[in-house]
Amino acid sequence: MNSLKNTQEKILELTRGFQLSQCLFTATALGIPDLLKDGAKSCEELAQATQTHAHSLYRLLRVLASTGIVTEIAPQQFEVTAMATCLQQDSPDSLKDFILLRAEQDYLCWKELPYSIKTGKSAFERTFGISRYQYNQQTPQLSERFDKAMSTLARKQKEAILSSYDFSTVDTLVDIGGGQGSLLISILKRYPNINATLFEQAETIQRAQELLEKEHLNERCQTVAGSFFEALPEGKEVYILKHVLHNWDDEQALQILQNCRRVMAVGTKLLVIEGVISEKTAQRSILLDLTLLVSFASGKLRTESELDQLLQAAGFALNRIISTPSDISIVEALAV
Ligand SMILES: C[S@@+](CC[C@H](N)C(=O)[O-])C[C@H]1O[C@@H](n2cnc3c(N)ncnc32)[C@H](O)[C@@H]1O
Repeated sequence: MNSLKNTQEKILELTRGFQLSQCLFTATALGIPDLLKDGAKSCEELAQATQTHAHSLYRLLRVLASTGIVTEIAPQQFEVTAMATCLQQDSPDSLKDFILLRAEQDYLCWKELPYSIKTGKSAFERTFGISRYQYNQQTPQLSERFDKAMSTLARKQKEAILSSYDFSTVDTLVDIGGGQGSLLISILKRYPNINATLFEQAETIQRAQELLEKEHLNERCQTVAGSFFEALPEGKEVYILKHVLHNWDDEQALQILQNCRRVMAVGTKLLVIEGVISEKTAQRSILLDLTLLVSFASGKLRTESELDQLLQAAGFALNRIISTPSDISIVEALAV
């Protein structure tokens, strides 16, 4: 009897996931963690600042308190916990842009998960009528939010990469589809002898240039705008593809790899940095795999042997797979 109760409670807990997500999204979008940055406030004050209904806001904040994001220090008086700093816009570890993307895009299109499962097609495209990349590029504000969200996630991962891979013998490297250059900036700061190239789509390159200038690294980092389905910068020692291949189907991934191989000398290195599926893969990585289906249809996480086959077909030999303290692995391949 007890075991049935426990099983039911576990299942019911799973069904509550979407409600908690929506509480988090709503509070973040209203800017509650930002408003509480300088100290506790009453529910009435928060309602005034957010133009919301005070008692309904209180009911939301009560749920938020149960998750540990805020604390009710006196009746209807709230302050933030350390957890909430990740939800504040100007915190260096802010996840706010990522959460808003989740709320405004993922939350809506995951409703169409059954469609993706039935058809193998993108729930995002079904919901919004165009691809996720196109959708975000339509408005500079959204495109910026997408880049910022990616950079925040990348920031967490770059420490894992730097602690797991030694770039000290490298003089030149290029990051293909390197976003706003977050990984390159860390590598350049750690290794003063490296000269780098960031290859990206034109719009993202513009924002990356501003960041590189801010870090005084623009002289050591060339930026090249283009498409990885066309020509790539030639003759570098190391080519990086981080979180790129997993967005594309095998045919497209092969095309990107072949384009890299075409401009690489024999013996130079390609680092494919992303999640690799194995028996030990954590739930969040398996969920990322499903997110790639929902978002892009063509995207997926691959196993070691699937990556090996693609690399061989493009003219590479898989040299080693280095696991990192985060969810991503570094797949090192040599041009043969
Ligand atoms: C998931 S993001 C990864 C960004 C970065 N490598 C990271 O790990 O944070 C994929 C990147 O590929 C870029 N991208 C998409 N299509 C591209 C193309 N055809 N040519 C060059 N870059 C492209 C996007 O602009 C985006 O920054």
